[in-house]
Amino acid sequence: MVESPDVTLELAAREDAPLLANLLELYAHDLSGTFGLDIGADGRFGYKTLPLYWSEPERKFPFFIRSATGVVGFALVTRGSPVTDDPDDFDVAEFFVLRRHRRSEVGRCAAELLWDRFAVRWIVRVSEGNRGGCEFWRRVIPAYSRGRYSHSTRPGATHPWRVFSFDSRNRGASA
Ligand SMILES: CC(C)(COP(=O)(O)OP(=O)(O)OC[C@H]1O[C@@H](n2cnc3c(N)ncnc32)[C@H](O)[C@@H]1OP(=O)(O)O)[C@@H](O)C(=O)NCCC(=O)NCCS
Repeated sequence: MVESPDVTLELAAREDAPLLANLLELYAHDLSGTFGLDIGADGRFGYKTLPLYWSEPERKFPFFIRSATGVVGFALVTRGSPVTDDPDDFDVAEFFVLRRHRRSEVGRCAAELLWDRFAVRWIVRVSEGNRGGCEFWRRVIPAYSRGRYSHSTRPGATHPWRVFSFDSRNRGASA
């Protein structure tokens, strides 16, 4: 059994935008094959909506995932999901662990910290073309929700989307 890593979540401040933007480049590169992403003329993938994470602090939450060695990933969360009508559903928009730190339970710990932090209905969307991501959520969500989750499939541009939903209110979380 892998020992649980010492993982924390830290809300990223506006001054941290360049660091988050750099990590988003690594994330986009990782998923560029799945989604057919190309870099722009500046050699970057870019993430146009990143500034909204500080201009809409009630609806968008940017987190760094930290372990003993420093920043090891990030999670971007939005209040309101593109796949549901309830504006108070929380959506895991992006989620990333640096390659060097993968398969050490960093992702699982960070996801659980995230879900415990906000007592809400959560939506997690993953492209079926992202096999590692699918396997990860398929392992972590049933365990966290103790089997009380639903999932469905929606059409996507390159691959179908798998959509999970579950409620973290059942776990005594506080918003
Ligand atoms: C998906 C991702 C976040 C997983 O992070 P991680 O820290 O490696 O995940 P964990 O170590 O907590 O994995 C927990 C379990 O999930 C499953 N899992 C995780 N990654 C997997 C993979 N690539 N293939 C198969 N199963 C995987 C395993 O069951 C794992 O437990 P095990 O290592 O004991 O077998 C990471 O690989 C990543 O950032 N990938 C690129 C970005 C991405 O796909 N993000 C999700 C977008 S929806």
